[in-house]
Amino acid sequence: MKFFIDTANLAQIREANELGVLDGVTTNPSLMARENIRGEEACRRHYVEICNIVDGDVSAEVIATDFDGMVREGEELAALHPNIVVKLPCTAEGIRAVKYFARKGIRTNCTLVFSVGQALLAAKAGATYVSPFVGRLDDICEDGVELVAHIVRMYRYYGFETQVLAASIRHTQHIVQCMDAGADVATCPLAAIKGLLKHPLTDSGLAQFLADHAKANA
Ligand code: E4P
Repeated sequence: MKFFIDTANLAQIREANELGVLDGVTTNPSLMARENIRGEEACRRHYVEICNIVDGDVSAEVIATDFDGMVREGEELAALHPNIVVKLPCTAEGIRAVKYFARKGIRTNCTLVFSVGQALLAAKAGATYVSPFVGRLDDICEDGVELVAHIVRMYRYYGFETQVLAASIRHTQHIVQCMDAGADVATCPLAAIKGLLKHPLTDSGLAQFLADHAKANA
């Protein structure tokens, strides 16, 4: 299972990268706005900075919602760095653009996916990644993890190569549940990744080891 960090915050990206287990980064327009990055030029510089930190796929989302605009923007984003993956919304225009980029060998992440039908269209169009939004489904009392499992089953059954990228992960338990569901990737906030490390028996066990060592070497 690959780990991506879901942020545009460079400090958090560096911290996750230093752990040595980071495979990529996802961003979206809200995450970019949260870092106060304004204007096309600044956004592009920021994507390049992220690519220079992490040796892995970096999803950069288009703002255009029409096919021609998505194609223009996506081509410009893809030209920034070989690790850029063009992120496109799961709309009719977005699916057309996924197909266009697949034909050109440009990798895509089809985002804002909330149903298995949307995931089917993304895979048929040739998306590299499909992003079901786990947390946002849970927020409206639907089962986000079950959607991930359903997409994984469907892709395996039909032999689609599109990777299931569990997105909108809110906490550590979501990561473990998506792993059990067979997700290829989970894109997570830093706190959720760090949460995987936490166990009270690790802390108390280490404290005991160090205390015993200190006693024996006093
Ligand atoms: C990542 O690709 C998604 O844009 C992101 O995970 C959405 O997360 P949110 O539902 O917490 O905004």
